[in-house]
Amino acid sequence: MFGRVKPLDAILATAEKKSLHRSLGPVQLTLLGVGAIIGTGIFVLTAAAAQKAGPGMMWSFVIAGFVCAVAALCYSELASMVPVSGSAYTYSYAVVGEMLAWMVGWALILEYAVAASAVSVGWSGYFMGLLKSLTGFELPAMLQAGPTWTMNGLLPHADFSTGLINVPAIVVALLVTWLLMLGTKESATFNAILVAIKVAALTMFIVLTLPAIEREHFAPFAPNGWFGPAGTTGMGIVGAASSIFFAYVGFDAVSTAAEETKNPQRNVPIGLIGSLAICTVFYLLVAAGAIGSIGAQPTALGVAPGSAEFTQQCAALLASGQEPLVCSNEALAHVLRAINYTYAGDLIGLAANLALPSVILMMLYGQTRIFFVMARDGLLPEKLATVHPKWKTPHIVTAMTGVFVAIAAALLPVGQLADISNSGTLFAFFMVAIAVMLLRARDPNRVRPFRTPAVWVVGPIAAIGCIFLYWNLPFEAKMVLPVWGAIGLVFYFAYGYRKSHVGQGHVEVHEGDADVPPMPVPPID
Ligand code: ALA
Repeated sequence: MFGRVKPLDAILATAEKKSLHRSLGPVQLTLLGVGAIIGTGIFVLTAAAAQKAGPGMMWSFVIAGFVCAVAALCYSELASMVPVSGSAYTYSYAVVGEMLAWMVGWALILEYAVAASAVSVGWSGYFMGLLKSLTGFELPAMLQAGPTWTMNGLLPHADFSTGLINVPAIVVALLVTWLLMLGTKESATFNAILVAIKVAALTMFIVLTLPAIEREHFAPFAPNGWFGPAGTTGMGIVGAASSIFFAYVGFDAVSTAAEETKNPQRNVPIGLIGSLAICTVFYLLVAAGAIGSIGAQPTALGVAPGSAEFTQQCAALLASGQEPLVCSNEALAHVLRAINYTYAGDLIGLAANLALPSVILMMLYGQTRIFFVMARDGLLPEKLATVHPKWKTPHIVTAMTGVFVAIAAALLPVGQLADISNSGTLFAFFMVAIAVMLLRARDPNRVRPFRTPAVWVVGPIAAIGCIFLYWNLPFEAKMVLPVWGAIGLVFYFAYGYRKSHVGQGHVEVHEGDADVPPMPVPPID
């Protein structure tokens, strides 16, 4: 198990074999990253972060961005050394062995699939908001959102006062899955336009809100303090950082494109760190604009966003004619409408509607690719990786993932989905930080085209940062990781342990190995 390590040289030989397909350069990779990163986090979860931290969410963006930055530095070393698909899963296989690699791959399901669900729900909020603003039409509340989940002892308990099922989220998740199955290639230009739309929308938001900033909107700056009132979990500036971490997830999608990158040793680190840096600057300016223009105080101290209590408080506030940021499902559009830029509000809603599906696509794609690589290693049934003869896509695994994503999107609120996704992502990032340090100690002479600077400082900071953010997630989201991990172990011993290629002694590179299917979102020219 722990001894079953896939030799790095075998992995590198696989990468070598694929060197003919390399076409991405640094700018394309950075844009790919920005395309995967900007999404529900900034467009929607800004409201939840405000409910947790108030204006102090500025710090939350800094903390989450910092943890991602140190994690990205660790990612970059491994991604430049092992420029093949599968990202954290593949690195772990080479360094800490099969069982932990399986656990990382299993956790990446939380990262990618659940993130796709979260973005679907985020899209649904913007879609309903735009529809209402343009036509006055509203779906019944029960069909616009799923229930809220709390833990009743060790059992999950659904509270249906927030909703029953999120119909628009199901529709968008299945639609994107269908596109991905058909292998529909958005044209390169189209994809570049989607990234441009997102960036233009955020730029417009910043330009319109910064002049409207009023100093008093920043006070009280941290109503829930750093860690929230006693007895709460996942609240305060740090709790908000753990949730808003979601806004940065996706930069690692750059490393999943390593097999298609020219000179990956140089370009992958540029793509990872560059896209993260660009998004951090945007996020801080957007947060400042939102807080400064309309304020960002919570409905009441210590009340978690999405909870039944919160829903009631928002209903009461809305009935009394107040429309606080924290109650909005379409935070950025709401801010612009509140400062009387109605058309700009609709425009940003339109931008979110157009651009968020591409984030869903990237996340679903990342997921199918991880499954694909795991199946190629024999840890999942190889049938899952069957490529459709006409569509040239792994249609079976894509359809299964899509159904899972749609069900989760139908039944859970966006904030909880993002938190669950974060728990898986933080585990994967933690393992990457550990793997970098282990590999430095074990194999110090191997060529490292990108070296994490001050690895003995940055590595531990990244690992501790991940544990810290995980620890400050709400209790329910925190519990998902160990439960999910235990289910994963059962699957591993029931299947992967016996069928693993490495376990059966096949570590050489087979010329006949299936190639990872090409990206559905082609590189941007
Ligand atoms: N970072 C991506 C988003 O915010 C997942 O939607």
